[in-house]
Amino acid sequence: MIRTWSLHDERQSLVLAAHREHLPEVVYFGPRLPDGESAETLFMAYGLDVTGGMLDANPELSICPEATRSFPGQPGLIVRDGDGRPLLPKFCYESEEVDERKIVLTYRDETDRLTYQARFSIDPKTHIIEAQAALEADRPVLLHWLSAPVFPGPQLSDEMFDFAGRWCGEFQMNRTAWSPGIRYRENRTGRTGHEHFPGLIVPVRGATNAQGQAYGFHYGWSGGHRMVAEELPDGRRQIQFGQAARMERDALTRFETAPLYAVFSNDGINGCAVAFQRHLRDRIVAFPKPDRARPVHYNCWEAVYFNHNLPELKDIAERAADLGAERFVLDDGWFGQRDDDTSSLSDWEVDPRKYPDGLDPLIKHVHSLGMTFGIWFEPEMINPDSSIHRAHPEWALGGEDQILGRQQKALNMALPEVREFLYERMAAILSGHDIDYIKWDHNRVLPMPDAAQTRGSYALIDRLRADFPHVEIESCASGGGRIDFGILKRTQRVWLSDSNDALERLRIQHNAAIFLPMAVTGSHVGPRVCHTSGRVLDIRFRAWVAAQRHMGFEMDPRELTEDEAAVLKGVTAWWKANRDWLYYADILRLDSPDPSVIAEQQQTSDGSRFVVFAGKADTSAQIAPRPLRLTRLEANALYQVELRRTAEAPPTLSRGNPVLKQQPVKLSGQYLMSYGLTLPWSFPQSMWVIEGKKL
Ligand code: DGJ
Repeated sequence: MIRTWSLHDERQSLVLAAHREHLPEVVYFGPRLPDGESAETLFMAYGLDVTGGMLDANPELSICPEATRSFPGQPGLIVRDGDGRPLLPKFCYESEEVDERKIVLTYRDETDRLTYQARFSIDPKTHIIEAQAALEADRPVLLHWLSAPVFPGPQLSDEMFDFAGRWCGEFQMNRTAWSPGIRYRENRTGRTGHEHFPGLIVPVRGATNAQGQAYGFHYGWSGGHRMVAEELPDGRRQIQFGQAARMERDALTRFETAPLYAVFSNDGINGCAVAFQRHLRDRIVAFPKPDRARPVHYNCWEAVYFNHNLPELKDIAERAADLGAERFVLDDGWFGQRDDDTSSLSDWEVDPRKYPDGLDPLIKHVHSLGMTFGIWFEPEMINPDSSIHRAHPEWALGGEDQILGRQQKALNMALPEVREFLYERMAAILSGHDIDYIKWDHNRVLPMPDAAQTRGSYALIDRLRADFPHVEIESCASGGGRIDFGILKRTQRVWLSDSNDALERLRIQHNAAIFLPMAVTGSHVGPRVCHTSGRVLDIRFRAWVAAQRHMGFEMDPRELTEDEAAVLKGVTAWWKANRDWLYYADILRLDSPDPSVIAEQQQTSDGSRFVVFAGKADTSAQIAPRPLRLTRLEANALYQVELRRTAEAPPTLSRGNPVLKQQPVKLSGQYLMSYGLTLPWSFPQSMWVIEGKKL
């Protein structure tokens, strides 16, 4: 007897099948199969031959491979009884709940008294498949590892991309060849981390950004993940994602993975990117006021750091508003005795030395300038030098001899009294003032991974959101250290990086766009001399790189020359005039023929309008710019494309007359996608902005 289950949308099919009572295998995940294709036949067609050096039948690569069924690779579950004895369950079919968009399968092992449940759902609009696993026991058991339902890796694929990074260098793509054995990523830092964004792209041979087949995966959890991409001796491949191993420190009766988001794309890595962007924006993030345009931010961190001084902040706020800012965010330094980063975290009361009349005079001033007011917190943290640590040293997570990070410890968020304390202090600030935004920071890794910590953080955020539904939250962790769909279920923006260096930012946001839409990706115009790289960058380049995402400013506006202020106002006005459609635009990473050009096309979903940002990161190897191919246009339609002259006046070293320098041009989609746009020559560290519309 064969049991089968399938999910389909217009682009893809996922087919599960199982022999009798066994756990199912994903026997097909790829382009949409024709109606009427028999899933039973697929199961039979999927079976491998047996030859020398093999067992007499092939162990199943199920959605939770079981160690007891001679499976030669990593099992999907490692669990021990409360006394430490390893449990080796063999699950048997118990029940199912199925509709067109969802499959829930329940399996039971009577000997070990464990229940395993897998859930799959498909979103026909965004094309994202969510897969999640849960384990239940009738007495507390110790979990070492539970994988979200396991997907097969495609066979016609030579490599995979996963993501690494560092402070000021997030979203670096690693390319690893498939080979026998494991590509193993395990994040034991206790937060999503700069180092380990939980994503994987598996291109089928020949795929690029804009064409070919690719598979995308993202694990939506903020406490650190584990990924196993394994090729078995027989050649089959499996992809497992779950929480980092041994993150559950207590024996419990129920465990659940976070959702694994998976997608197949027929049109390159961009097909995965667009699915993730839309799913995140339209299904996961909840904006308090969805109809409100994303406001231009001003953040004072790189202008004043800890030196808060009311007249100065008022002056800065006036200048920021004049440049076009619509929200003023007061960063670190307003509470306790926080004159540097050595003290006061957890003392969430306004510092009377800096604000003798409280925050209201500043907030009123900001409001009078037409901006809303946001404020910084780092709730999960505590400095040993703080009144709360002196009163409650037992609230800190980890041992007394632990290594501090930025002179601070984490609070133990699993303790209800810690969450209660934080809720009260934060609620007092939020209810006592007119505040519509929190920048929620998390500046150190944990002393050890602990799932209860992540659940505690989620619970605090959820409670605050329920009681202050008008407040938006930005997820920050020394820049991009906590970016994932789990935190974004509870927040509305990410601080992608502490690097306000536009050159670095250009690459970081380009790669992050595989998962993140413009709507949630903060990008700020930094100071002329970048504080984290020392690089000096022209205001045009800084402004346009910020205008690629949710725009803001973070420099001291008093440093701007008249010319710089005029450029910044101009680009900000452009962003405001376009942000409504850009909010819904797909970010399409272009296949640039020149490695020194990082280019993307942001396009409405109906393809009627687009803007291309072609960032020149470096000097090119060849003399003249190579034509840049666009994507996802209608081959037979005509487009008017125009170089935005305010972006850059071509430098005098551009001596020729490429047509875009002179006038708008009308070109077919076919030409733009197969030959491409010939741009004028430009200096490195500059940006061409090309606007296009379908005629
Ligand atoms: C780290 C953040 O990434 C910065 O933007 C800033 O908020 C500082 N923390 C404040 O301490």
